[in-house]
Amino acid sequence: MARISIAPMVDVTDRHFRYFCRLLTKKSMLYTEMITSSAIIHGDRNKLLDFDPFEKPIALQIAGCDKKEIQEAVKIAEAWDYDEINFNVGCPSDRVSGNQMGAALMAYPDMVAEIVESMKKETKKPVTVKHRIGIDGTNVLPNSLPRLVLDKYEDLEYFVKVLSQVGVKHFIIHARIAILEGLSPKENRDIPPLRYEEVYRIKESFPNLFIEINGGIRTIEAIRAHLKQVDGVMLGRVAYENPFLLTEVDQFVEGGQVNNISRREIIEGLIDYVDRFGKDKRMGYNALKNTLGLFHNKRGSRTWRRLLNPPWEEGLYAKDILEKALDILPEDILDERPIDY
Ligand SMILES: Cc1cc2nc3c(=O)[nH]c(=O)nc-3n(C[C@H](O)[C@H](O)[C@H](O)COP(=O)(O)O)c2cc1C
Repeated sequence: MARISIAPMVDVTDRHFRYFCRLLTKKSMLYTEMITSSAIIHGDRNKLLDFDPFEKPIALQIAGCDKKEIQEAVKIAEAWDYDEINFNVGCPSDRVSGNQMGAALMAYPDMVAEIVESMKKETKKPVTVKHRIGIDGTNVLPNSLPRLVLDKYEDLEYFVKVLSQVGVKHFIIHARIAILEGLSPKENRDIPPLRYEEVYRIKESFPNLFIEINGGIRTIEAIRAHLKQVDGVMLGRVAYENPFLLTEVDQFVEGGQVNNISRREIIEGLIDYVDRFGKDKRMGYNALKNTLGLFHNKRGSRTWRRLLNPPWEEGLYAKDILEKALDILPEDILDERPIDY
């Protein structure tokens, strides 16, 4: 049984974007943005953790490095009924790795194992781990070596083995190493080469684990090819660059099929959604800002983007903008349906 998921992406996969994704794909697992354990403990929990039941199934991604704190965060989040709790061991950002969070934790498999064990104590839901195939960079723990390179297949295999021994059954592997010094997070998503073969090898070495691959996967053909080797595919940037692709991904998931929905119907779904924000322009804009790719590579793409980009004409709110889009965008593109249908 294969799985498709939409990756955790800070500033993208908020509730609005997840609602939009759910109009497009009924079966994919939708991830939250990464939320730190300390934000869950000290921040505005409702704002951080609330979601619309329409978004389900949904996975919460937590980042952190303090076992007790992470355990506490999982305990708090349990009341929200997420379908999965994911631990972030893949984020290369300085803010995160500088605090020994995210990808830097790949250097400490035993510590990650302890964290995951503590998470599992607080939830009945699956605890999964998202990580890279390796790291190259300075490590900030006081007694660590000045530069640590863990980018061999054997390092990756060891990491997965240690976590599997504490009962992690599902791994999401971004098929690049993270370079922890000298590259921005954005560069870290493009510059280290993709090494899919190593993720495939992990599946061969651990046939009983659920292995999901991530990184640079942008077409239905690519998804199909990866699913011959591994159990799941996680889609990141393509979800906002070309969201209409998501109408086709449910065919890979048990009981799923291509979602026979047109752009017009998606926009109508968005009209229902933004209605709840009424004359709150800021919320209305936030609800739509990550839908800009809906007409990717189609006539009308520029018009759609121009309509959505502020400033909006005086007196127009999100619902009006969408209704205007239905009036002026090309009919054939609005009524187009997924190709396999
Ligand atoms: C804007 C943006 C924000 C991201 N934020 C997170 C995050 O919060 N947690 C995480 O694990 N990965 C994050 N990522 C990485 C993605 O989850 C994914 O691993 C990466 O983009 C590679 O997949 P892709 O090539 O399909 O985009 C982010 C990526 C982008 C583009």
